[in-house]
Amino acid sequence: MTIYLDYQATTPLAPEAADAMRPWLDDKFANPHSSHRLGREAAAAVEAAREEIVATLLRWEPRYERRGDEADNPPWVTETYPWDSRPESGRLFFTSGATEALNWAIKGTFSKAPPDRRRIVTVATEHAAVLDTIRSLERFGAEVVVLPVDRKGQIDVVQAMEAVNERTALIACMSVNNEIGVVQHIGLLRMSEVARAHGVPVICDNVQGFGRYSVNVSMCDMVAISAHKIHGPKGIGALWVRKGFEPEPLLHGGGQEGGLRSGTLSPALCAGFGAAAKLAGADPLQGAGHVMQLYHRAREILRDAGWHMNGHRSVRWPGNLNIRRAGVDAARLIADVRQVAFSAGSACASGSGRPSHVLRAIGLSDAEARSSIRLGFGRYTTEAELIEALDLINTAAERQLRLP
Ligand SMILES: Cc1ncc(COP(=O)(O)O)c(C=O)c1O
Repeated sequence: MTIYLDYQATTPLAPEAADAMRPWLDDKFANPHSSHRLGREAAAAVEAAREEIVATLLRWEPRYERRGDEADNPPWVTETYPWDSRPESGRLFFTSGATEALNWAIKGTFSKAPPDRRRIVTVATEHAAVLDTIRSLERFGAEVVVLPVDRKGQIDVVQAMEAVNERTALIACMSVNNEIGVVQHIGLLRMSEVARAHGVPVICDNVQGFGRYSVNVSMCDMVAISAHKIHGPKGIGALWVRKGFEPEPLLHGGGQEGGLRSGTLSPALCAGFGAAAKLAGADPLQGAGHVMQLYHRAREILRDAGWHMNGHRSVRWPGNLNIRRAGVDAARLIADVRQVAFSAGSACASGSGRPSHVLRAIGLSDAEARSSIRLGFGRYTTEAELIEALDLINTAAERQLRLP
């Protein structure tokens, strides 16, 4: 049996999510956009899932409302700026995944921004779905500001605040990093305060934080999430959009999802996503406690074996350990330890042959990046299998160092 330690790449499907999907793959196959009874039944399942996901997304939010001065609102924000995070303060749109949600949010917001707002502010450690999308807008006149990070993986808060001004079209900043697990909470919070003063939409890639770590949705205007990172099915994600910040449609067609994201929804995928979100939101503290326990155990073993942590030691999601050991060849280690599924750097970029842009951004040399591995664990990882996996990895690493 393979021990799965690649939770940032994807997570095992929860049995509850599989159960929720089954009827919609079987005899309940109707199109949720049809007006007959079977269609309406499917549509109801889609809406129930949407509610579950929003409930988990807004779980930690402060329940208050701070209305901005309407006169301060930028002309392209169509409604009063509601500084709140009640379910009715925004809407969740289903997409094919977070990549689509982020492309839609970024391109659709940029194309709606007035001509004097061409600046896009983002962070060097963002996922390629953000960085490459933003880069693609340079040919349409975007002035891209990529904020560097320090050795720990965090942005300089003052520099970040200074980068945002009245010529900024949008900010894109993630919550939890997929490669090194570092949380960008303070930087995101401070930038969003400046953004509010200048009427700049804030887009958050919350793929790795959703259901695990609280990012205040009230700090953001658009939030991208993905089902397969929370034990839901692959092929579905969502974009939560604050009222008045709706991006231009990316997909045109049948007018589904309020005319903003056309295409027939899959009730099975929506139901699976909803069940996974419900599970994640049910007892998040217990889930985090289990992961924290595994983290401390793994840290002890890895430190004793001579591994060093990449990125911040404490401001991080504990289910991600990005570590390096001098002289180890990560690619060879992955090939040698076949009984464990783990990654070198980011699985999203694996196969590209490029060194990880995140490990470079935190100042690692190419040799250090090549000797780095990422171990990701979570809800279904047991302490016994984690210890067994670390033992196999350490034995193989020792062998490599003895026989280079
Ligand atoms: C931080 C982050 N953003 C975006 C994505 C893309 O998500 P999806 O696979 O749903 O397109 C991933 C997936 O690896 C991710 O980890």
